[in-house]
Amino acid sequence: MNKRSRILNKRTIYAAGLALILSFASGCRKDAPLPSKIISCGTPYELELPQNTPPMPIPEDNPMTSEGIELGRHLFYEKMLSGDNTQACASCHQQEHAFAENTKFSTGIDGFEGTRNAMPIANLGWSPKLFWDGKANSLEELVLFPIQSEVEMHESVFRAVRKLQQSDKYPAMFYQAFCDSTITVETMSKALAQFMRSIVSYNYRSVPGIGNELRNEVQKRGFEVFVDENKGDCFHCHTVTTFTTNFKFENNGLNENPESDPGLYAQTGNPDDMGKFKIPSLINLRHTAPYMHDGRFSNLMEVLNFYDTGFHVSPTLSIDLRKHTKDGKPVPRLWSERDKLDLLAFLLTLEDTTLLTNPKWARPED
Ligand code: HEC
Ligand code: HEC
Repeated sequence: MNKRSRILNKRTIYAAGLALILSFASGCRKDAPLPSKIISCGTPYELELPQNTPPMPIPEDNPMTSEGIELGRHLFYEKMLSGDNTQACASCHQQEHAFAENTKFSTGIDGFEGTRNAMPIANLGWSPKLFWDGKANSLEELVLFPIQSEVEMHESVFRAVRKLQQSDKYPAMFYQAFCDSTITVETMSKALAQFMRSIVSYNYRSVPGIGNELRNEVQKRGFEVFVDENKGDCFHCHTVTTFTTNFKFENNGLNENPESDPGLYAQTGNPDDMGKFKIPSLINLRHTAPYMHDGRFSNLMEVLNFYDTGFHVSPTLSIDLRKHTKDGKPVPRLWSERDKLDLLAFLLTLEDTTLLTNPKWARPED
């Protein structure tokens, strides 16, 4: 018996023991579908979070376990989840790019290009809504979108589950994570959601009071520009917290005519939501270019110039940008070129390189 299968056996025995205990406690038979409240039966997993970070809300019916996260990692890198077995979540969410992609739009298995820039994956457990336009309300629900999307993995979730069921490795892994080797769409999405919740990124050296102190004078000045209401004024939306976003949706003036790309409005039908998009985190910007939901800016100076004089006024433009306008046009900020360069230096310190290399989130070996 090789080392791997010994480990597997040990774990299987452990999981089987737990399943037995659970089945006595709940009166359910082995292999019968467990009621979703106690569907998880692995080893409880504790997130390591920095001080001043609110606890991550975890759905009651999907507690995080080491086995669930490990299974989720394998699924995240699993090409069988796509129609022609060529694309995995990780094809577009690449660890070396902070789980985003360095192309403007992503290309799915049929060679079609989408219309959105792939989003980085970190700290999503705190995000009440997901996707640029908020079309998913939980990570569990979100998983079904890319698998079924015609411009992404283009696969039926039921076929994907059948492929996993027929594989050598997955039935045992699902058994370890959920005490049930019969794979379902629900357990597949739960495992992927657990893996994504486990991706936390907080090694901000630079947000005062959260990370260590700013490293040099330039970055300190850049932070001042970020929070100065006459200069950058970025902090109302990209908050000075562990996350650098309040996870809300705002119209930051990308389009003159927001109806052309209605964002959150397409989900809610509320006219106040026209042209609003998810406020992204600013962590690891160095690795996540291009920027904005349509990847229109290839570098951060373009972004700063946009916030200076390039944004458009429309009825739903955020009040935090409207105050920098006059007669329906942006008023240049009271910042110097030097201020902008300092702000740029500060933005680049919002970096957590461990996210890019941590083996916990890397492609599994087999
Ligand atoms: C073909 C490329 C592609 C593939 C494959 C893909 N994604 Fe995405 N992902 C995207 C794009 C593009 C977006 C933004 C889409 C939007 O907002 O409409 C996105 C958005 C997301 C988000 C939202 C993040 C946030 O901040 O709200 C999550 C989470 C995510 N994907 C997870 C996954 C998972 C899990 C898989 C595999 C089951 C996957 N993706 C497969 C391209 C891809
Ligand atoms: C009114 C709220 C608001 C303010 C103020 C604001 N932003 Fe944003 N920011 C957003 C929203 C919303 C998006 C996403 C827009 C989209 O793609 O549709 C965004 C996107 C970005 C992005 C792109 C990130 C990515 O992953 O694509 C960067 C960089 C950025 N903002 C930096 C800044 C800086 C620097 C400032 C201050 C000069 C600032 N923002 C001020 C709301 C705001």
